[in-house]
Amino acid sequence: MDFEGKTSVVTGGAGGIGRGIAHALARRGSNVLIADTNEESAVKVVAELMAFGAHASFCETDVTAQWSTDEMVEAALEEFGQLDVLVNNAGVGGARDFTFRKTPNIDDWLATFDVNVFGIVNGIQSVEKYMLDRGYGKIVNIASIAGRSGGAGFTAYGASKAAAINVSQAWAFKLAPHGINVNTVCPGLIWTPLWESIGEWRSLTSRQHTGMTSRQVFERAVAESVPLGREQTPEDVGNAVAYLASDRARSITGQALNVDGGIRMN
Ligand SMILES: NC(=O)c1ccc[n+]([C@@H]2O[C@H](COP(=O)([O-])OP(=O)(O)OC[C@H]3O[C@@H](n4cnc5c(N)ncnc54)[C@H](O)[C@@H]3O)[C@@H](O)[C@H]2O)c1
Repeated sequence: MDFEGKTSVVTGGAGGIGRGIAHALARRGSNVLIADTNEESAVKVVAELMAFGAHASFCETDVTAQWSTDEMVEAALEEFGQLDVLVNNAGVGGARDFTFRKTPNIDDWLATFDVNVFGIVNGIQSVEKYMLDRGYGKIVNIASIAGRSGGAGFTAYGASKAAAINVSQAWAFKLAPHGINVNTVCPGLIWTPLWESIGEWRSLTSRQHTGMTSRQVFERAVAESVPLGREQTPEDVGNAVAYLASDRARSITGQALNVDGGIRMN
C-alpha cells in the first residue's frame, strides 16, 4: 500500500469530496486527520475510517485562520508522529446566502478568496517548515474546472479557483528543490452539498432553470457538458489525489489535473 505508516491531513474532509479523499488515502494505508469546521460530520467520517481499521482523528480547523491551520499541523504530529501529505480541499461557493443573488456581491468575493485561496496559503504556510526540515512532503490542492477559464455568473468562485491553481504553481517552484511536490486537482461535476447549493442558485437566478430541483439542474449540466457522459464522484477525485500524493508521482509537480469527464481538455 502506497501510504503505509504515512499520515495525511485533509481539510474539508467532513463530507463531499473531502470524505472521498480521506477514504482513498486511508484505504491505501494512511493515517488521516480530518480538519474541518463541522465537527458533527467529521466525527462520522472518522468513525467510517476506523471501522475498516484505519487510524483517523479530527481537529476542529478553520482554514481561513493561520493560527488554526498551525494547530491542525501540531495535532497531526501529536497524534501520529509525522505528516507526509496535506490535501487543501476545504472550499465554498460564496457567502452563506450566495444562492439568492444572480451575481456575486462583496461578501461572496471575500468568502471565496478567504477559504479557497487563503485557506490553501494558510495550510501550506503551516506545514512547509516541517516539510522543509524533513526534505519530504506532498501537497495537493483542490481547485476546480471553474478556475480553468472565466465564465459568466459564478465569477468570484471561478476567480478564486484560478488563483488557487496559480498559488499551487508558485509553491511548487519554491518547494521543488526540497523534495516537496505541490499539485492541484480540478474536479468537474460532483454531487455534494456544495453542488446542491449551486443547483439551488441556478434554479433561483436563471430563467432556463426555473422550477427545476437542484438535482435536475445538476443532471442537465452533466448531460450537456460531460463528454464521458457521467457525473464524477468523490471517489474519482480521491483516486487522483492518492496518485499525486504518492511516490509514484515523484516526478510530477506544479501540475493541475482535471477530473471532469473531459469537460475541459487543458
Ligand atoms: N462538488 C463539485 O462539483 C466541485 C467541483 C469542483 C471543485 N470542487 C471543490 O472541491 C472541494 C470540496 O467541495 P465539495 O463539493 O465537497 O463541498 P462541500 O460543501 O460538500 O464540502 C466542503 C467541506 O469544507 C468544509 N469547510 C468549509 N469552509 C471551511 C473552513 N473555513 N475551514 C475548514 N473547513 C471548511 C465544510 O465544512 C465541508 O465539510 C472545494 O474546494 C470545492 O470548491 C467541488
